[in-house]
Amino acid sequence: MKFFVDTADIEAIAELNETGMVDGVTTNPSLILKSGRDILEVTKEICALVKGPVSAEVVATEAEEMIKEGRKLAEIAENIAVKVPLTWAGLKTCKTLTDEGTMVNVTLCFSANQALLAAKAGATFISPFVGRMDDINLDGMELISDIRTIYDNYAFETEILVASVRSVNHVTESALIGADICTAPPKVLKKLADHPLTDKGLAAFLADWAKTGQQIL
Ligand code: E4P
Repeated sequence: MKFFVDTADIEAIAELNETGMVDGVTTNPSLILKSGRDILEVTKEICALVKGPVSAEVVATEAEEMIKEGRKLAEIAENIAVKVPLTWAGLKTCKTLTDEGTMVNVTLCFSANQALLAAKAGATFISPFVGRMDDINLDGMELISDIRTIYDNYAFETEILVASVRSVNHVTESALIGADICTAPPKVLKKLADHPLTDKGLAAFLADWAKTGQQIL
C-alpha cells in the first residue's frame, strides 16, 4: 500500500520523505490555509521535493472555471494531480482533464455510488473520507470495502485513496481491505512505527550493552 502525506507543511513532508515512506502528498484548501503559504508556491516546492503525485484542489464550483483552475494547477509540475469535488461539475472536469493526460483526484467521496461515478469519469484517484464518516456514526471502512469490491468487479483502474485518516487502525484496516493508498497526517504516519514492546525491548538491550563496556564505533 502506498502512503501519501496529508499536509502542505514542507518541513513535515521533507522529514518523512527521508524515510522513503512518502509516495505522494495530498493538500486541500484547509491545509493550504494552515500552511500560511501561497498555493502555487508551496505546491511547486512540494512537487520538487516528492516524486509521486501531489494533489492540489480547485475551488471553483462551475465546470468551466474548474477546468481553467485545474489546467493552471497542472502547469505547476508533471506530478500534479488536480483534486476536484465529487459533484457533476467535478466529474465533468475530471473527464476533461483526464482526457488531456492530467491525473485527477476526485475528493469528498462518501458513498459507493459516488465512487462508481468517479471511476466512470476516468479518475486517477478516488478519495473516500473515512474519518468524517466515522464522525457521524457511519462506517468509513465499510465504504472502502464496498468500493474495493465494485472496482474489482469491473476492473476499474481508479486507485482507492483512503482520506480523512485519523488513526493507525484506519491504516491497518485499509491495508487489509486492499485499498491502494492511505493519505494521513504526519502525526498518524509517525505513529505507525510505535509499539510499547519495541521501546521496552530496546531499553533492555541498551542497558545490557552498557554493561559490556563495548563500542561499535
Ligand atoms: C485529503 O485528501 C483530504 O482532504 C483529507 O484527508 C481530509 O481530512 P480531514 O477530514 O481530517 O480534514
